[in-house]
Amino acid sequence: MRVAVVGKGGSGKTTTSAVVARTLARHGHRVVAVDCDSNPTLGISLGLGADDTERLVARREELDEGESEHAPSWDELIDRFGSDAPDGVRLAVVTRIQNPEPG
Ligand SMILES: Nc1ncnc2c1ncn2[C@@H]1O[C@H](COP(=O)(O)OP(=O)(O)O)[C@@H](O)[C@H]1O
Ligand SMILES: [Mg+2]
Repeated sequence: MRVAVVGKGGSGKTTTSAVVARTLARHGHRVVAVDCDSNPTLGISLGLGADDTERLVARREELDEGESEHAPSWDELIDRFGSDAPDGVRLAVVTRIQNPEPG
């Protein structure tokens, strides 16, 4: 299952995403939360903490500035641009997914 959350700034995207992700994970689902927002604060709402959230955001900025390469596969993407958050949610802070693998 894939759930996308979109909307205006301040409409509750981040809060809703975090609640949905943590609730699904607590019920035993494998959850990867992907933060593509220009204001990437999902790590805070997921309970990852400010330092780890900043670290992921900095890694995405390195990519945006051409200082690192896109991940060639999904597994590498969630490894390099991701971190384990509470309740078993894996958070990845990314720009966009190009050529997604089926499934
Ligand atoms: N269901 C809700 N009821 C009341 N306040 C909410 C609700 N969802 C989010 N908020 C509050 O609204 C503000 C914006 O929410 P946020 O999730 O950061 O929005 P977005 O990610 O769309 O910019 C935050 O202060 C948040 O605590
Ligand atoms: Mg937000």
